[in-house]
Amino acid sequence: MENLIKNKIGFCDSGVGGLTVYSKFRNILDTEDCIFFGDLKNSPYGNKTKEQLIGYSRKVFDFFKSKSVKAVVMACNTTSAQTYPVIKNDYGFKIYPIIQSCAKIIAGLNVERLGIFATASTINSGVYEKEIHKYNPEMIIYPQSCPEWVNIVESNTQNDPDKIEIIKKDLDKMMKNNPQKIILGCTHYPYLTDILSKFAPKEMFIDPAEFFVDYIKEDLKKSGLLNPQTTKGSEEFYVSANPDEFKIASKMFYQVDKVEVV
Ligand code: DGL
Repeated sequence: MENLIKNKIGFCDSGVGGLTVYSKFRNILDTEDCIFFGDLKNSPYGNKTKEQLIGYSRKVFDFFKSKSVKAVVMACNTTSAQTYPVIKNDYGFKIYPIIQSCAKIIAGLNVERLGIFATASTINSGVYEKEIHKYNPEMIIYPQSCPEWVNIVESNTQNDPDKIEIIKKDLDKMMKNNPQKIILGCTHYPYLTDILSKFAPKEMFIDPAEFFVDYIKEDLKKSGLLNPQTTKGSEEFYVSANPDEFKIASKMFYQVDKVEVV
């Protein structure tokens, strides 16, 4: 066990979205050594087939295995929905998928009408509803895909007037359902909170990373996997392409100074 607890924790997503989870994790637990992987070569994930996504996940998880990680945080709703159920037993380390890890907490929110914004792949999988209804079958859920949002975030163009118009149009469609809260069910979407909040109350939007990072910390503790070191943990950032775009787009959530392409 002593050996394993000092190993690194991996974080993965198609791109900068995973940093919305990673930054919150570092805020509550900065003594872990971490590796972040952004699969920019294959981004966006949200319009890919399940088979393609499984292939991407296997490559990323093989990379983490080569780094002897003790756990991997799937900071990506799309792979949590599509590939986690397929690969979950194939690696000898813990995997934390964002949807399945947060579903119980979301189901326990005092909300009758819940909107979910996510990628087309996540929405089509129906995994959000399935996981939430396991704990709260009464909750009325309005799933809606926002196919253009990930590219808007990755290209850092969210403040362009035409992009604001796209975001507003998607939000208007959701608001017709009169939801009490809306889950930002893609880790890229918290980059758009300021824009969304121009058109609806900020408190309406829930970033599941808020609960996700507490869940991971508690589980690492329970599993005897918390690194006992008291100094700040190391960080490594990798992407499969476009390191400069990654650095620029990441700024709102995390200052990444050094990125390696693998
Ligand atoms: N950020 C990821 C998610 O949470 C993937 C988005 C994408 O690449 O389409 O679903």
